[in-house]
Amino acid sequence: MMADIAPAGAAAIARAATLLRAGRLVAFPTETVYGLGGDATNDHAVAAIFAAKARPRFNPLIVHVRDLAEAETLAVFNSPAHRAAARFWPGPLTLVLPRQPGAGLSLLASAGLDTVAIRVPAHSVAQVLLREADRPIAAPSANRSGRVSPTEAAHVAEDLFGLESTVLDLSGETPALLRPGAVTFEALTELLGPVGLPGSALPKSPGMLASHYAPRLPVRLAAAEARPGEALLAFGADAPPGFAQVLWLSRAGDLAEAAANLFAMLRRLDRPSFSGIAVMPIPDHGLGLAINDRLRRAAAPRQMPPFK
Ligand code: TXA
Ligand code: MG
Repeated sequence: MMADIAPAGAAAIARAATLLRAGRLVAFPTETVYGLGGDATNDHAVAAIFAAKARPRFNPLIVHVRDLAEAETLAVFNSPAHRAAARFWPGPLTLVLPRQPGAGLSLLASAGLDTVAIRVPAHSVAQVLLREADRPIAAPSANRSGRVSPTEAAHVAEDLFGLESTVLDLSGETPALLRPGAVTFEALTELLGPVGLPGSALPKSPGMLASHYAPRLPVRLAAAEARPGEALLAFGADAPPGFAQVLWLSRAGDLAEAAANLFAMLRRLDRPSFSGIAVMPIPDHGLGLAINDRLRRAAAPRQMPPFK
C-alpha cells in the first residue's frame, strides 16, 4: 500500500477529496486526533479502513459530517441531541443516535448496529475536506503509536487536542457516556441533566452493544452441507447445494468484499421464513479474522429473543 503525505493546502485537500470519492482512504487532522477516513456511504471503502489495521476487529466507527443538517439526514435527532449539537458542534462530541433508515450509510461503518456515532469536527482541514468530498467520512483515530517520530509529531501536535472526542449515547432512555473525552462529563450533565457513566451498570456500553448485535436466526459456521430450510452465506466459487437461498459474501473469495457485504447480507437473510443461517468457512487471516470474530459472536447463544 502506498502512502502519500502532503501539507494540507487547498490543492492537497482537493486531491484528498477526489481520492475519498473514489473509495480510497485518507488520513486527515481533526481538532482531537488524526482520523483514517473513508467514504461512509461505501461499504468497500469502510472495509478498507478495517483492513488497514494489523489486527482488524469490526468496532463501530465515528461518521464525520460537515454540519447538523447533514447529520440529520443520517441519524434521528431527539431533543437532547439537538441541545448537545447546538452547544458543542462543531467540536469534540460524538453522539450515538438511531440510524435514519434508507440514508445510504454503510452498515459496516457502525458494525451492523441500528445506531450511528456521528460528529461535526471543528478543524478547518476536516471541514474543507468534508465539503469538497461532499459525503460523510467514517474515520477511526489513526494509529500513531510507535510510528510517528517525535519531530513529525511536533509538526502535527500544535493544532491537535490529542484527546479523542467524548462519545455520548442518546439512543436510549437516559444519556450515557460511552467514552470520556474532550467535552467533560460536567459540561454534559449541566446541559442535559443526569448522564450515566461508563462502567456503571448501564444497559449499553460500546463493547456490549457491539457484542449483542446478532441475527435472530441461529447461525451455523463452517457449514459444508445444507440443513432443511437454511439460508447460506457463501464464500468462494462453489456453494454446496440444497439451501433455501444463497447470498455470496464474495464469489471471488475476496475478504474485503466479504467484509463489505457481511452485515447487509446477514440482515437480508435474518427472516423467519428460514430455519437458520449457515456460513461457509472463511479463511482466518487479514480481514477474515474480523469476519470470523463477528460471525462467532453471531453464532454464540442468543441474547435476543428468537422469532416467534
Ligand atoms: O476524536 C475522535 O473521536 C476521533 C477523530 C478521528 O474523530 N475518532 C475516533 O474514532 O476516536 P474511533 O473509531 O477510534 O472510536 C470510536 C468510538 C469507539 O469507542 C466506538 O466503540 C464508539 O465510538 N462507537 C462508534 N459507533 C458506535 C455506536 N453505534 N454505538 C456505540 N458506540 C459507538
Ligand atoms: Mg480510537
